[in-house]
Amino acid sequence: MKPGVVHLQIESTRDPFFHDILARVLKEAGRVESIVRNLLAFARDTPNQHHPLDPAKVIEETLSLCQTQLVTSGIHLQVDTAPDLPCIRGNRQQLIQVLLNLISNARNTLNEKYPETDPAKILHITTSRCRHEGRDMVCLSVEDRGSDIPQHHLAHVKEPFFTTKPEGKGTGLGLSISHDIIKQHGVALEITSVPGEGTRIDIRLPIEEERTEPQGNGTAR
Ligand SMILES: Nc1ncnc2c1ncn2[C@@H]1O[C@H](COP(=O)(O)OP(=O)(O)OP(=O)(O)O)[C@@H](O)[C@H]1O
Ligand SMILES: [Mg+2]
Repeated sequence: MKPGVVHLQIESTRDPFFHDILARVLKEAGRVESIVRNLLAFARDTPNQHHPLDPAKVIEETLSLCQTQLVTSGIHLQVDTAPDLPCIRGNRQQLIQVLLNLISNARNTLNEKYPETDPAKILHITTSRCRHEGRDMVCLSVEDRGSDIPQHHLAHVKEPFFTTKPEGKGTGLGLSISHDIIKQHGVALEITSVPGEGTRIDIRLPIEEERTEPQGNGTAR
């Protein structure tokens, strides 16, 4: 059953027993969707499918897929896009997938730390120019004010199947797949987590040298 159909049925059912069952169906459907999405990315080795992309458009497209969930969770979303950013070179679909994984992790930790609304329930997405090993690059950062990642977990969070979620809730593949995808784009994903402040993940992407028409105006497939 499609998640949209389940949503409609949940809204229209008054029986608490069926409501509970449908809510569980919806949750499991979301989990299966995330596993399939991640496995598909594993199966695709697409270094040759990198194109010029407008970073702001990649973020816009990602948010169009997850903004409703953020709003429902009461998360304050701040997006700061540096003006006149150059095009990056990358795989649009994979970059959207990485951002969705990072945003999903941020949403989880923020919901855990602040089960209700809170002025500090903030997710901050920024794009900026940066330099890495003498190269000009574009940096996309996803930063949350949720619980930090303990130091002894930091070395493991990029490993496949590492998760602190209760059994059956997380695959532990989100960060490891994201890390692989970003490595394929050139520079490893960098995680900074500070006790009491939250977590920031930086993705550095190569700049498209030639001036070509960017992709990223279509819908995600
Ligand atoms: N922004 C974050 N804040 C705090 N902890 C995080 C954050 N991102 C990741 N983690 C930690 O890293 C672990 C691994 O993350 P990863 O995305 O790989 O798997 P998961 O979120 O547990 O499962 P899935 O992505 O399948 O839902 C998480 O279980 C969590 O402990
Ligand atoms: Mg995750």
